[in-house]
Amino acid sequence: MERELALEIVRVTELAALSAARWTGRGDKNSADEAATTAMRTMFDTVSISGTVVIGEGEMDEAPMLYIGEKVGNGQGPEVDIAVDPLEGTELVAKGLNNSLAVIAVANKGNLLHAPDIYMEKLAVGPLLKGKLSLSRTLEENILTASTLLGKPVSNLTVSILERDRHLAIIQELRRLGVRINLLSDGDVAGAIAPAMEESEIDLYVGSGGAPEGILAAAALRCLGGELLARLMPGTVEEEERCRQMGIDDPSVELSMEDMIGTDDVIFAATGITAGDFLGGVKYLSDNRAQTHSIVMRARTGTVRTIESIHHLPNKPNIA
Ligand code: FBP
Repeated sequence: MERELALEIVRVTELAALSAARWTGRGDKNSADEAATTAMRTMFDTVSISGTVVIGEGEMDEAPMLYIGEKVGNGQGPEVDIAVDPLEGTELVAKGLNNSLAVIAVANKGNLLHAPDIYMEKLAVGPLLKGKLSLSRTLEENILTASTLLGKPVSNLTVSILERDRHLAIIQELRRLGVRINLLSDGDVAGAIAPAMEESEIDLYVGSGGAPEGILAAAALRCLGGELLARLMPGTVEEEERCRQMGIDDPSVELSMEDMIGTDDVIFAATGITAGDFLGGVKYLSDNRAQTHSIVMRARTGTVRTIESIHHLPNKPNIA
């Protein structure tokens, strides 16, 4: 993939973010999601790729746009697989809370795991802990290893986790161990990337969240030199069958980074919708202009770019 593609992809996340941001705090997550999806789909037409959506808004019969298997791009560039989440954190936008993103990962064809929309157990770390922790060890063992390798007492470690009833036992255990805890209401793409961001105070991300979000986070972590330890969590026979249909024969095995992102030829791009820990949100400026803040990275070179753009908006706002 050409390096110029990275900037083309940012234009797509920017437009999705600009469109979703209009819905901030309006209590309508579906309209926000629809606005982001339509914008992303439209902008993809201008990008020189022959893309196939492998992680998207749902199966063909569930989603009108950016469904799994849909072809995107102008058909004139490299054959690539695309993972999208036009609006990651629908509730965050609906409530005007932090950390919602428009996100895309692009890799050469055949290199993104076609993860079904089920839960995934996750443990995300930055470069210093890569290869050092394991989902088959206890949380306590992983925390103690992290403490030693990061050179911080356990009480100075910060662990991030979605605040969910299913995580009560993990949260209780983290409190027993004495780490600091960052409870997220939503948004585990941003949550899982945080430990690998240099300026972040988060050391580990743990718990379960969406598998598609896991693949997007794994793409970012591959670019940042971090790691996502992951295991699919099919909860029913039907979900197990969906894993098999997507080529995952034994869903109970721990997935390696290579299983999820099979190449260094991967690009990750995200634009903040509402402000977050590592990206600002969409800001409306005078004279019908808006500012966006994006990050785009390539694993091949490890280059991480943050991009602030000023956009001149169409005269009519795109919602009522
Ligand atoms: P949506 O953008 O689809 O609303 O997802 C938000 C999110 O918090 C994800 O980041 C996370 O992976 C998933 O929901 C967790 O699911 P649940 O809310 O069922 O715990």
